Amino acid sequence: MSRAQWSPQRWRDLPAAQQPEWPDADALERVLKELGDLPPLVFAGEARTLTASLAEVAAGKAFLLQAGDCAESFAEFSADDIRDKLKVILQMAVVLTYGAGVPALKVGRIAGQFAKPRSSPTERVGDVELPAFRGHMVNDDAPDATARIPDPSRLVAAYHQAASTLNLVRAFTKGGFADLAQVHIWNQQFVASSDEGRRYEQIAGEIDRALRFMAACGIDLKAEQSLHQVDFYTSHDALILGYEEALTRMDSLTGDWYDCSAHMLWVGERTRQLGGAHIDFLSGIHNPVGCKIGASTTPTEVVALCERLNPERTPGRLTLITRMGATAIADALPPLLEAVTAAHHPVVWACDPMHGNTFVSDGGRKTRRFDDILTELKGFFAAHHAAGTWPGGVHLELTGDDVTECLGGFGDILEGQLHERYTTTCDPRLNARQAIDLAFRVAELLRA
Ligand code: TRP
Ligand code: MN
Repeated sequence: MSRAQWSPQRWRDLPAAQQPEWPDADALERVLKELGDLPPLVFAGEARTLTASLAEVAAGKAFLLQAGDCAESFAEFSADDIRDKLKVILQMAVVLTYGAGVPALKVGRIAGQFAKPRSSPTERVGDVELPAFRGHMVNDDAPDATARIPDPSRLVAAYHQAASTLNLVRAFTKGGFADLAQVHIWNQQFVASSDEGRRYEQIAGEIDRALRFMAACGIDLKAEQSLHQVDFYTSHDALILGYEEALTRMDSLTGDWYDCSAHMLWVGERTRQLGGAHIDFLSGIHNPVGCKIGASTTPTEVVALCERLNPERTPGRLTLITRMGATAIADALPPLLEAVTAAHHPVVWACDPMHGNTFVSDGGRKTRRFDDILTELKGFFAAHHAAGTWPGGVHLELTGDDVTECLGGFGDILEGQLHERYTTTCDPRLNARQAIDLAFRVAELLRA
């Protein structure tokens, strides 16, 4: 199927994995019509700027930090939640930029990350079998059968929550909160008292001194916009295709289609079938796109995905996000690097060290070990060094809160402690300390 005949609806003729069984097709179409009349959340020009920045990453001149919730929650989106998530991402960016001397491109899993693919249509909660929770954009996580019925009005609620989240993110990142003069205030109390927090404070102090030094040299710091704001982009899994279709608009400047629900969209390991609806949808939008790549992916398959998603070989257009698991990556990644390089595809390679390392603890909670996450990251860097390719970025699930969802790291969270502050609606996230600790490790790997 060629790009010329592409339309935002064309996915409807193809097999679409992981779509909810909406009980009332007419109600769904009414909602999609309503969404289609609402303003876009992002501007096509911003998506083009992101593609250009990702091209810098593809060329080995910058590093992608893509991070945020596994699944955003309709219950947890206060100003404080958003601010704290942003804080930890800004802190990580400081550690990477200062520690490794490489610009960090900041992309959140935020303002739209509301839908989850599930390996089984049902799940057991206690002794009852319930339809699976598919993210707040689809149904509710409460453990009862009625709450789990897909409700299309949730798509509109997701749009409005994305809009207000994005509004606050824009205000914070452009309005002074992200100013480099504020590096100290991002360090939250519970982080500051930890080893990572103290290490971070040291960098923050050095940045302060460097800024004072430049001012003393007569440089007008006020005039340097880049010191006072950051470019922060949004991204999510383009899972519920009706929603993405409704927010896809033709850019009046170029005549190209853009999915204006976020700057960047990706598809998961479970929805990236070459002949499937999701890949077809991504192939036609002009946003930068991502594709998750698991350990069983063959070199032929990856090259075919590159051809399908980026036939023009535009640098920055395609990010391949490997999620292989700590033990598999050493064998699984090198053949893919070789094949994509041989096919001359200018991709961004990012490492998602979270999703291949999930297991269920004895207490029945999904978790991940900090050490496994780190091992996969080391394997990622080692494979790229050996292949001569650029380890372009990381893709992480984290929160600004002091949760106990991943094991290990600073404070060494143990299996028996997982229940203490386990608040994720889906996968286990790094807490702020673990995230900053990880940023320091990644900066070390980048320097090496
Ligand atoms: N604008 C620059 C950048 O995004 C410098 C900067 C300003 C920055 N505030 C920041 C970097 C906060 C990291 C975190 O890189
Ligand atoms: Mn997840």
